Amino acid sequence: MTIQKCVFYGTIIDTPDPLTLRVRKHHVCVVNKGRIEIIEPSASRNLDEHQDYVFIKLSESQFICPGFVDLHCHAPQYRQVGSATEVSLLEWLTKFTFPNEARCSDPSYAQDLYTKLVSRLLRNGTTTAQYFATIHLEATKILAEICQEKGQRAYIGKVCADQNSPDFYIETTDEGVRNTEEFINYVHHMQKGRDIAGTNALIHPVITPRFIPTCSINMLSQLGQLAKKYDVHIQSHIAETADQVAFVHYLYPSIGDGRDVAIFRETGLLTNKAVFAHGVYLADNEVDEMVASGSGVASCPIANFLFSKGITAIEHLRRRGLNVGLGTDIGGAYSSSMLPVVRAAVFANRTMDFVSFDRSNATLPFFPEHKDAVVDFKFAFYLATLGGARALNIDSQIGSFEVGKQFDALLIDCNKESQAFDYWNEDEMDIIFEKWVNAGDDRNITGVWVQGVKV
Ligand code: GUN
Ligand code: FE
Repeated sequence: MTIQKCVFYGTIIDTPDPLTLRVRKHHVCVVNKGRIEIIEPSASRNLDEHQDYVFIKLSESQFICPGFVDLHCHAPQYRQVGSATEVSLLEWLTKFTFPNEARCSDPSYAQDLYTKLVSRLLRNGTTTAQYFATIHLEATKILAEICQEKGQRAYIGKVCADQNSPDFYIETTDEGVRNTEEFINYVHHMQKGRDIAGTNALIHPVITPRFIPTCSINMLSQLGQLAKKYDVHIQSHIAETADQVAFVHYLYPSIGDGRDVAIFRETGLLTNKAVFAHGVYLADNEVDEMVASGSGVASCPIANFLFSKGITAIEHLRRRGLNVGLGTDIGGAYSSSMLPVVRAAVFANRTMDFVSFDRSNATLPFFPEHKDAVVDFKFAFYLATLGGARALNIDSQIGSFEVGKQFDALLIDCNKESQAFDYWNEDEMDIIFEKWVNAGDDRNITGVWVQGVKV
């Protein structure tokens, strides 16, 4: 893969904030060494200046938009996608997920599975993914190498679990901490070895305690110390289901108030580089504490519908100042593509209006109070791109199209087969974009670039 110098000419669409769909028609976007050098109306640009660049002229049916940031997915669970959707979280973990993840003790199995996964996610337009791997160091390194080789921007964690796990899928505290440190050093070495002048490293290590029930306080505290020593990202699950919250309180009643946020705080894991999945059952004082720490939430609405019996109150959290993005939560949820997640985030927001719906009062209007708090398609697309980047603290690098940012982009073509475009004659690009987000699919994605490289 060589770093291309490209000039895109046509329609450029992104969401610089949750309420704004920015449609820049007849624009040029000049990309050099992975970065956006120029975005401006094509009329003001003399293209002769860029004769040594690859020139990509978009047709009337095409636009470019930012690549997706999948803020939370489990690489080994790709095998499970679409199955085991009718059990509770804790049963799902013990019956299906732990035995499945344990297979990654075999590096050749992990190599095969992760190769298919990363290819699929890129095909789906996921240019950045934050992955949980498994407890196995070797397989986690394999995932990092595959992402590097295929050119996906990836935040990757070796999962840590030293308790409440089956004998065939558990590690000692010492192994978990030692292998996490080795993985951090491994990735930092990869970054040095492959750094391309002027561009950012693609692969990043993430400290990854699975969730509080599977981690001793000793393990969590040692991981907190590693986070401080290396200043790296952190990920875990937080306040996902009522029985998980109760289990945590049963295990650690006297650490803070015995809830997830306090325990992460007390063990040094509540930092501005931490992203926690779900956050369905967060009290407002906990949200405020997360805001003060600078940490973020990966809302995974499909998984929440299946497991949480509740939803992440995205707009409420954002109003309090929390950074929120979206995750597929492969394979606790059934989609490896972010498009269904974007749609589920819209649905989840709508259900907020129904929870107190009075069935006996048929005159009650739908959406009574929340007119200004609606997560619509553009808001959800923002969460799946710039919102996710912000939660990872990399919004100065990716998530929207600005001069100086990395070019992580999708080329969408409405002339490819999908239900959205069997019949259309709209010439309004914002409508075309909405149709793709709501009813299009990966067949409309005809090009994917990460850091200016076509992958
Ligand atoms: N909590 C602990 N592990 C998991 C997991 O793999 N998926 C989900 N959704 N929640 C978890
Ligand atoms: Fe998860």
